Amino acid sequence: MFRAAILTASDKGAAGLREDVSGETAKALVQQAGYQVVEHQILPDEQQLLAQRMRQLCDSGAADLILTTGGTGFSPRDRTPEATLEVIERQAPGIAEAMRYASLQITPRAMLSRAVAGIRGRTLIINLPGSPKAVKENLQAILPTLWHGLEILTGQAQECAGKEG
Ligand code: MTE
Repeated sequence: MFRAAILTASDKGAAGLREDVSGETAKALVQQAGYQVVEHQILPDEQQLLAQRMRQLCDSGAADLILTTGGTGFSPRDRTPEATLEVIERQAPGIAEAMRYASLQITPRAMLSRAVAGIRGRTLIINLPGSPKAVKENLQAILPTLWHGLEILTGQAQECAGKEG
């Protein structure tokens, strides 16, 4: 079983002014997919705070997967991709490409997500947009394949030969 941490980037959520439905949606979907959710935290849209928490989760070995929700758009406060790029050592662009490819079949506004994905140590970090609908659609696009990526990343599988997914 892989361990997932959910970080919601939301000024209003962190201030207690908005319920974190997107984080709860991500949590429910990954739990259904067989992940153990080890953390679900709401942080303001502050690049340094987001980067610091991501670094801690990676470097302590507490999570195999970090899913962020929110802060991927064009608003001046949207800094989640920048925080992620600060932290990752290797980019995994195919994951963001797959999310946008699938999402563009649903809405042209998918092009407005600047989400990135990448690896620090043995942890994969993936940005998701902030609406519960977008979280669901983006996760559905990648969840079937993510498990295999994490098997490779964590050394539980050595090669890609075999079943598709
Ligand atoms: N992707 C999917 N699949 N479904 C959506 O409804 N919304 C888009 C986009 N990606 C959307 C989506 C919109 S409207 C925006 S503004 C961007 O994600 C960024 O969202 P964020 O600022 O909440 O991160």
